[in-house]
Amino acid sequence: VVIVSRRIRERGQRAKCLAILDEFRNLCATPVSRLRQIVDAMVVEMHAGLATEGGSRLKMLPSFVDVLPTGDEKGLYYALDLGGTNFRVLRVQLGGKEGRVIKQEYEEVSIPHKLMAASGQELFEFIAKELAHFVNREGDGFRPHGNQKRELGFTFSFPVNQTSINSGTLVQWTKGFTCDGVPGKNVVQFLEEAMEKVGLKMRVTALVNDTVGTLAGGRYWNEDVMVAIILGTGTNACYVERADTINKWNGLLPKSGTMVINTEWGNFWSSHLPKTYADEGLDADSVNPGEQGFEKLVSGMYMGDIVRRVLLKMAQEAEIFGKPIPPKLMQPYTLSTPHMSKMHGDETRDLRNVAKVLKDAFNITNTSLTVRKIVYMICDVVCERGGRLAGAGIVGILKKIGRDGTGTGSGSWGQGKNISCKPRRTVVAMDGGLYEHYAKFREYLQAAATELLGEEVSKNVVIELSKDGSGIGAALLAASHSPSPTRNTV
Ligand code: GLC
Repeated sequence: VVIVSRRIRERGQRAKCLAILDEFRNLCATPVSRLRQIVDAMVVEMHAGLATEGGSRLKMLPSFVDVLPTGDEKGLYYALDLGGTNFRVLRVQLGGKEGRVIKQEYEEVSIPHKLMAASGQELFEFIAKELAHFVNREGDGFRPHGNQKRELGFTFSFPVNQTSINSGTLVQWTKGFTCDGVPGKNVVQFLEEAMEKVGLKMRVTALVNDTVGTLAGGRYWNEDVMVAIILGTGTNACYVERADTINKWNGLLPKSGTMVINTEWGNFWSSHLPKTYADEGLDADSVNPGEQGFEKLVSGMYMGDIVRRVLLKMAQEAEIFGKPIPPKLMQPYTLSTPHMSKMHGDETRDLRNVAKVLKDAFNITNTSLTVRKIVYMICDVVCERGGRLAGAGIVGILKKIGRDGTGTGSGSWGQGKNISCKPRRTVVAMDGGLYEHYAKFREYLQAAATELLGEEVSKNVVIELSKDGSGIGAALLAASHSPSPTRNTV
């Protein structure tokens, strides 16, 4: 009797779990019809964001980068790449067209978690100290004389209202940072004051978003790069826009006629985006509720936690992991996206990698194969939604610049106006650990982009991994915007 009644109970619980899974899957659905609505919403919001300051949740920030690297850049430059849980410092010797990148060295430093919530001064002083160590360790290094200073490209991967190529105010923190006193202030001043304090003779020549750095780094090697995307802890996109379409731009029109726009698409929102109870909970508990809606559906910082929230619901309503509820399952961010990716990549028959992650993340043991399959399926649903939405976002940008094959883009970059003209190849430079390390995410993204563009057009759209391009890109932009371009040779 005991065994029979346990079986009946288990069967009932499994049915409940499957019902929760089905409901969640329906809420997350991204059929191509819905993706098309999202593409169109993205284009509408891009126009609105370019038209007026605050015209859209898409900030569409002019980067002040109006020319991209050509290959002629020469000299010794530094770059600092800050934007996630790590930062990188970099030193590059550029040799012009023949030499290209003659030498490059870098170091990666992880940011102590408590600094993400410290004061702005503390954060920047820590960074300046690490940068000074790096500079001091250089063997054949450049020694500035008199009032000479080393030149730095500063990749700062947060939304910044640029006021020039080397200054700009932080709009707001994203990705879990909350350092006091920085929003509304010039971040370059913070860094330069900190560098001065630690006795480092260096000045910021270019302040760029990581997307803009990636675009510059990509363009250095390939002229067809028009768009850059980051899919990592956070997500964002930038692209080359026709300057005369940026109505909110008050400055002189650049000679090149172009301007790189940092869309800050992490903050994109549209009623067509599929949102669930798990997303609502995640947003409400986050340090920035109501902000970065697209990022919270798509990026590496959040996807793992969405999976955890669905599992928690199954634990509460269907005792998927028995009683009591495992305490770690109730704790936000105990399941990271790399964990999720590991479970989702599990090709073993008994899903033993799923079991291992459940043990590592939540201390859950003794799960049945059925339970592990359900966990796997939740990962699949969250990953599929994120990947397909990212794919739709990319197609939105291509549509805006007339490179999606429909010929309706407002920029005249595309093949739209002149149908006899051969379709142009468009390269999307991509960076970020999520894209790089999560194969199924990449596959869902590509499949959605191909579905939306059609086979023919998608042959001319290439997504290229441009690993760590943003640091080099910042150094290249420092070089092309340097007041004394070839001085810094060793
Ligand atoms: C966040 C930031 C954005 C950055 C992106 C990727 O969305 O707001 O500036 O580009 O993360 O790092």
